[in-house]
Amino acid sequence: MEPENPLLKRAYALDGNAREIRALYRDWAGSYEADTIEGMGYVAPHQAAKALSEKLDTDALVLDAGCGTGLVGEALTRHDIAGLVIDGLDLSPGMLEQAAEKNVYRKLSEADLTKPLDMPADSYDGVVSVGVFTSGHVGPQAMDELARVARPGAPVIVTVHEKVWGPDGYADHLKAMEAKGRVRVRDIRDAAYHEKEGYTCKLCVLEAA
Ligand SMILES: C[S@@+](CC[C@H](N)C(=O)[O-])C[C@H]1O[C@@H](n2cnc3c(N)ncnc32)[C@H](O)[C@@H]1O
Repeated sequence: MEPENPLLKRAYALDGNAREIRALYRDWAGSYEADTIEGMGYVAPHQAAKALSEKLDTDALVLDAGCGTGLVGEALTRHDIAGLVIDGLDLSPGMLEQAAEKNVYRKLSEADLTKPLDMPADSYDGVVSVGVFTSGHVGPQAMDELARVARPGAPVIVTVHEKVWGPDGYADHLKAMEAKGRVRVRDIRDAAYHEKEGYTCKLCVLEAA
């Protein structure tokens, strides 16, 4: 099923090229939240934040990977986790500027999830990535870095768009990560994503090993 929505058409036509991704999100950053939440019924940030909040202890340090304008960070703060600290990273400076205005992130950095992240292993008590594992953005290999920077036992919550789950081999990649002792797969469930567009995602609840 191809999207009718012209913004989604442009987003899903990307091919992982960093310059084009930055250009799309530079143009979209100002209207992204209205377009996705009201326009598309984008509920994935809330689903993922809820799943993560159920696994976090107090004083957790969380990484929001591909934080965009900060919808996930904002949703996480609504769960009243005492002492919660959230860092965000994204490829798009335009999206990071919007996220900074929310004042929910301790630190925001520009980084590319298709490359090794410039941070030590075992840095975070939780990692979340929403809307990033999708057509033309990043592929399953980027999950390796998310697992690396999470401390052993930390929850890693990732949405994978239904369009790419099968074709891009996510199930096999997660099995391989498990076999290498990088993660434990706790749950993979179908969850609402763009409700008004009729899209779902796989909500992956992983635990770094
Ligand atoms: C659909 S938005 C999701 C943003 C936010 N997580 C949300 O749920 O609203 C996808 C985000 O992934 C970012 N992105 C795409 N490719 C990336 C990459 N290689 N590294 C880091 N971020 C990337 C984009 O800049 C964009 O902000």
